Amino acid sequence: MISHLVYKNIHLIGVFMVLMALGGLLLHRINGGTQQHAWRKPVAITHGVGMFLILLGGFGMLARLGIFLSWPGWVIVKVIIWIVLGALIAVIFRKPTLAKPLWWITIVLGGLAAYLAGNKPF
Ligand code: HEM
Repeated sequence: MISHLVYKNIHLIGVFMVLMALGGLLLHRINGGTQQHAWRKPVAITHGVGMFLILLGGFGMLARLGIFLSWPGWVIVKVIIWIVLGALIAVIFRKPTLAKPLWWITIVLGGLAAYLAGNKPF
């Protein structure tokens, strides 16, 4: 049986991959880069695999915590954050003016997701 700790590590590796990919793309965009760049495929793979690992680790931990169909509020908000982080890869090049604010917003979203898991406020 896969332990809670192993799922947490999978989850966190996914988080790091997604944040690396988004950070790289945001800086590229802030510097005037376009969607056609040399590292396009590896960045897309890093983001996509990271999204999957967040989901795998997250739901694995939920199973270990005995949380199945009725999700508490903190899980619902984390799933929304996950969806937003997934959508951002498309938004960065469609809305170039948002790149600078998204740099900070992404950090806040990551911090909020961590806070929700640690504190489970609702
Ligand atoms: C599908 C969405 C997600 C689900 C279902 C989910 C679920 C979970 C669960 C169940 C835990 C463990 C809580 C515990 O040990 O008591 C956890 C921990 C954590 N999650 Fe998520 N999560 C999701 C998305 C995210 C995202 C998008 C991020 C950050 C960008 C994130 C960051 C973290 C961090 C940093 C921890 C470790 C907190 C700690 O050790 O106290 N999660 N998550």
